[in-house]
Amino acid sequence: MDRQTEIELIKQALALKACGETQYHESTHSHSTQRYISADWFERENQAIFQSRPIAIAAACELPLPGDYLTLDWVNGVPLLLIRGDDNRIRVFANACRHRNARLLPIGDTGCRKRLVCPYHAWSYSTEGSLLGAPDFERGFEGLDKRQLGLVEFSSREIGGMVFFHPDRDKGVPENLLADEMVFGFAYLNLQQQKVYKRRSYVIKANWKVLLEGGIEAYHFNVAHKNTLAPFFLGNLSTWQSWGDMNLRMVLPKKPMLEAATLPESAWDIRAMANLIYSLSPTITLLAQPDNLSLIRMVPLSVGETRIDEVLLVEPPEKGAAQWSQEELRTHETNFNLVNKVLNEDWALGETIQANMASGVVDEVHFGRFESALIWFHDEYEKIMGIAADALVTER
Ligand code: FES
Ligand SMILES: [Fe+2]
Repeated sequence: MDRQTEIELIKQALALKACGETQYHESTHSHSTQRYISADWFERENQAIFQSRPIAIAAACELPLPGDYLTLDWVNGVPLLLIRGDDNRIRVFANACRHRNARLLPIGDTGCRKRLVCPYHAWSYSTEGSLLGAPDFERGFEGLDKRQLGLVEFSSREIGGMVFFHPDRDKGVPENLLADEMVFGFAYLNLQQQKVYKRRSYVIKANWKVLLEGGIEAYHFNVAHKNTLAPFFLGNLSTWQSWGDMNLRMVLPKKPMLEAATLPESAWDIRAMANLIYSLSPTITLLAQPDNLSLIRMVPLSVGETRIDEVLLVEPPEKGAAQWSQEELRTHETNFNLVNKVLNEDWALGETIQANMASGVVDEVHFGRFESALIWFHDEYEKIMGIAADALVTER
């Protein structure tokens, strides 16, 4: 995004607000609940999405210094270890020792290590993945070559401050994977310079798409978030744009946008006047608010369970200070808890949706024309899943 785009996005939202409209799809959309509850369907997603496409897995600013790491399990329990090497590059390894497969670091861990030491027999690895040492190696492992026993690595690439990896180790992550508009958007948000304030992780009993869908429409704001978001937003109004794949940028206008008409354009500030969402499905949602970015990472665990990581990213302390001021800390803590409160309103609904779908009582869902990003998402999803439009009736 650049300044011109920022102005255009505000004008677009104001024009829609002026006539009481939002961004529509030309028609409604319906599909079967099978795509949220069927184990076979999840396996099809596993083949078509989770194991065969580059996946956005983290923001690079989550690992700012050499030795910084985070661990998480990808679909099918594939243990991942993201770590920034001494050469300043983030790599994605299997979190598995080459001796006898022990986990090097616990799941969901973050921290900083100069080297990675296996907790079983102390084989140790560099932050760039090579095997540095193994007790009594020469005496016990005659015939094995240490140089061939580095950590198993997935191909990965940092694009616009976001780290992508390819779950298929025979494939790479293309340099031009992400549209320039998305890359510029991240730069506009100063993503690369953000610092992690805090993170939290938990599991929600709902399909990843149910949870994703709650994040890209404003139809529910006045109802599901009537005491949290609704007082600050302009109701069922949102605009969005995609430049390919299941990636989008969404604008959710807030009440301060109404003042834009009385202000000179030079005073227009989209982060004060709207929430911006960047969604890189299936995993990453980046929510930009005036003084923070919330990164929400979703890892599908099974057809009906999704692991969520919430990470609050904020500007570094002012003028090189080592820590944020007390006032900044209070603001960050408030925002960290507020995001969680709002998400919990969505997740509670997501769990009831999943349970009801699993009961089979109602076997289809409908998206209204103003839930247009949901229709777009499922159109893209159907292309990736190889579902022909006329085959939808055979889903059930
Ligand atoms: S399994 Fe890691 S050192 Fe033995
Ligand atoms: Fe919501």
